[in-house]
Amino acid sequence: MTEKDFLPGAYQKMPENGKVTWKAPSNIALVKYWGKRPVQIPANPSISFTLDACATTTSVTFEKKEKNDGFSFDLIFEGKQKADFKPKIQTFLERVEMYLPFLKAYHFTIETSNSFPHSSGIASSASGMAALSLCLMDIEKELNSSMDEALFHAKASYLARLGSGSACRSIKGDLVQWGAHKNIPNSSDLYGMEYPFKVNPVFKSYCDTILLVHKGQKKVSSTVGHQLMHGHPYAENRFEQAFSNLDKLKPILANGDLEEFIKLVESEALTLHAMMMTSMPYFMLMKPDTLEIINKIWEYREATKTPVCFTLDAGANVHLLYPSSDKEKVQIFIKDELAEHCENGQYIHDQVGSGAIKIND
Ligand code: PMV
Repeated sequence: MTEKDFLPGAYQKMPENGKVTWKAPSNIALVKYWGKRPVQIPANPSISFTLDACATTTSVTFEKKEKNDGFSFDLIFEGKQKADFKPKIQTFLERVEMYLPFLKAYHFTIETSNSFPHSSGIASSASGMAALSLCLMDIEKELNSSMDEALFHAKASYLARLGSGSACRSIKGDLVQWGAHKNIPNSSDLYGMEYPFKVNPVFKSYCDTILLVHKGQKKVSSTVGHQLMHGHPYAENRFEQAFSNLDKLKPILANGDLEEFIKLVESEALTLHAMMMTSMPYFMLMKPDTLEIINKIWEYREATKTPVCFTLDAGANVHLLYPSSDKEKVQIFIKDELAEHCENGQYIHDQVGSGAIKIND
């Protein structure tokens, strides 16, 4: 599909009002997206596990306006009006208006809440933008009932990408690939899609415990981090490495080769942070406790031969990845050894999920 496929024709009907609700999950990348060109076109392809417990639920109530003049919306976050989130939504609406020409015809009340604590340091932009995009697509489906499922999901992912890049990987599950790659048929820079190759059952129920090392605001945002890949001395090699890691991942995911999975995933996480440390200006998002946790994971893996590994997003938190068959013993290890490195001892047990769902009121 191309951008043109997302431009709708004339709408069949325009209901007076209505309400839609969607719940969209967060995701954690195995091969990382870091570096982009306008607007949210990734410098390299990426792949992620869709999560399950960490999710955003968003309801959009819409009511026909008298005049088609400008965007009109209220934003309610966890029960309270949230004026400081409004500029981000305004920018998003401006960006997607040409693909959703009904936007100025309605007043919207957007009510949103996260399953994880707001101050957890977990970015809610992926799940939040995915949930909002799905609500808007659901409204569009009411205006044009002939839209098929494939277009619905691809366009929801396309819109989510325009809101926040990695949000395009939060529509479907369980493994989502985003970014054009010559060896992955139908892959696109414009939207995420379900990983098209064989995936061993071990990965279908993989666990991810998010160790909340630092819950405060990050010193450097992802937006700034992506920009610093322009003119970065190692950028070209890094982008090539990501393309090649997607090739390498294909047999690993098919065969359930955990030893190779661990090497690739940990190397991706450390490469992401190495890019941050070698940017100009350079910066570091890992904290001393991030490194303590990584060392303990390595020691535990060596001593017990349990296939646990870590990955990192653009922050200090650590995602501990392990097969569900090892859940019991790994969760004891987390409680006894790793919790002490988390802010207020907090962590969240999550696992691979199956994508966003519509909630019927
Ligand atoms: O979607 P953004 O702009 O927040 O960037 C996400 C970047 C990483 O989380 C570090 C990697 C990824 O692929 O999700």
